[in-house]
Amino acid sequence: MSDFATLEHDLTAAIAAAGDEAALEAVRIAALGKAGSISGLLKTLGGMSPDERKAQGPLINGLRDRVTAALAERRTALRDAALDARLEAERSDVTLPLPDSLAARGRIHPISQVIDELTTIFADMGFAVAEGPDIETDFYNFTALNFPLGHPAREMHDTFFFKPDANGERKVLRTHTSPVQIRTMMSQKPPIRVIIPGRTYRCDSDQTHTPMFHQVEGLVIDKGSHMGHLKWILAEFCKAFFEVDDVKMRFRPSFFPFTEPSMEVDIQCTRKGGEIRFGEGDDWLEILGCGMVHRNVITNSGLDPDEYQGFAWGMGIDRIAMLKYGMPDLRPFFEADVRWLGHYGFRPLDLPTLAGGLSV
Ligand code: DAH
Repeated sequence: MSDFATLEHDLTAAIAAAGDEAALEAVRIAALGKAGSISGLLKTLGGMSPDERKAQGPLINGLRDRVTAALAERRTALRDAALDARLEAERSDVTLPLPDSLAARGRIHPISQVIDELTTIFADMGFAVAEGPDIETDFYNFTALNFPLGHPAREMHDTFFFKPDANGERKVLRTHTSPVQIRTMMSQKPPIRVIIPGRTYRCDSDQTHTPMFHQVEGLVIDKGSHMGHLKWILAEFCKAFFEVDDVKMRFRPSFFPFTEPSMEVDIQCTRKGGEIRFGEGDDWLEILGCGMVHRNVITNSGLDPDEYQGFAWGMGIDRIAMLKYGMPDLRPFFEADVRWLGHYGFRPLDLPTLAGGLSV
């Protein structure tokens, strides 16, 4: 064998024997690095006569090209093999349960859970979700809702006022979700069927009141919507939400400036042993306010009260969460204590559905 043939034979064997990329790189350096065997041969070309170079040049260059190609081919093969080995070694069964993972330990706050439950129930009845800002103008929070300036009904809410702006206008932290009724009627054409869950604010704090709390408003506006519809919707809601077959409800006359007539709704319950249970008993518990939307409110929203009518209701989300899940005190809802959340929170992947159960 010529020297070239021997060298090529040895290099080809070394390339084939290289078991990983590092070993292969060592072979490359030994052949093609600065002091490599093939590099040494290439350097000899410069000192050759033209005839010699003509004869040796193609041999040496051919050797370099074949060795370079063999190195590249082997490198690709090693990379593929390394990837296959890694895929095999790191294979994971994504169907296995994750007992101690963060995803399993996290908890959904009861307020978020109850909002998801409400949305599920009302979406099934054809309601959309509407929203509005927490910082409201006096117009949306009061005036458009038929609270005249200076009317004592404004005092029903312990309002947080902002400092007057350049125009002397005092914004408020909305005291209820009712202003979104106005915003919805101004921006949508009837028929309207919305629920409005959101944060609300009043200057109040004790076991069952916090300065920030949550309400859900309902609004239906159409040509023939009446109290029969309202009663049916509320009864269906209560049964679905409290997960009982039947609830007895009582409508008591009440007053809200934005509804006429106005009512408060109680549901029947027992309070034996300090525990409240619905669907039975001889006691009553107030859960919401409602009524037929006042014609002034319809007019203030730019609709014709002789063409459109409807009803609305408002309910404390925190309150119905406390009732459903047996929480005695509202304040821990907003204290961000993970121990409380671990106890009262909900598993993140158990989304409430009507078919699968709201709270399982
Ligand atoms: N906005 C009322 C409150 O916060 C609750 C309410 C009562 C809302 C009757 C309504 C309603 O939409 O019709 O006290």
